[in-house]
Amino acid sequence: MNDTFAAKAANWDNPDKVKMTKKFVSELLFHINLLPTWKALELGTGTGLVGLQIESFVKKLVLEDTSESMLEVLRQKLDKNSKVEILHGEIFDYKQQDIDLIFSAMAFHHLPDIEKTLQHLATITKPGAWVVIGDLVTEDGSFHNFDPIPHCGFDTTVLSKQFVQAGFEVKLVKIYNVITRITNDTTSDYEQFMLIAKRL
Ligand SMILES: C[S@@+](CC[C@H](N)C(=O)[O-])C[C@H]1O[C@@H](n2cnc3c(N)ncnc32)[C@H](O)[C@@H]1O
Repeated sequence: MNDTFAAKAANWDNPDKVKMTKKFVSELLFHINLLPTWKALELGTGTGLVGLQIESFVKKLVLEDTSESMLEVLRQKLDKNSKVEILHGEIFDYKQQDIDLIFSAMAFHHLPDIEKTLQHLATITKPGAWVVIGDLVTEDGSFHNFDPIPHCGFDTTVLSKQFVQAGFEVKLVKIYNVITRITNDTTSDYEQFMLIAKRL
């Protein structure tokens, strides 16, 4: 598996990332009443900055990522009583049909095939389960310095239709954060949206 985050893993956890993930989690907790009976799964957990903030609210938590380097940083944060199960692999490797909540922050733009992914999310979730995505609104490619990336953010109208086609009802789409970067006297703002969908 190609580990494109290998060079970033050791220094991933910095104050900006912590702040960004706290915004995502507070927004998620505002909209979804997490139950202590739930099994939750995070797609593209990285070093677990989001997932570990959710761990205490649910019964079981699967943290999935394709990057062994990012997961190695996560493993070092877990104690022996952790309820976290790590899945190193693609989301398609998760085949049980028992998930009450899927969440994902800033990982969707790395997924090559959104429609196939959403179809799979529909198969591993229980009816009535929630999916909460946080990612970039369509940008010009500058967020990743014009490096090739599967998606330069998302048109949330198109993404919402893809959710509906996969068997979800979209309950909420909102801008919950703006990332501001200043480089060479140029200021760029990147909006982050949250999309919340319910499995039919
Ligand atoms: C921008 S990072 C976000 C990490 C974490 N969610 C956070 O907010 O700190 C994107 C993550 O998606 C992971 N990723 C990339 N492609 C993936 C795929 N096909 N399936 C699952 N995770 C993937 C990367 O390894 C990386 O950890």
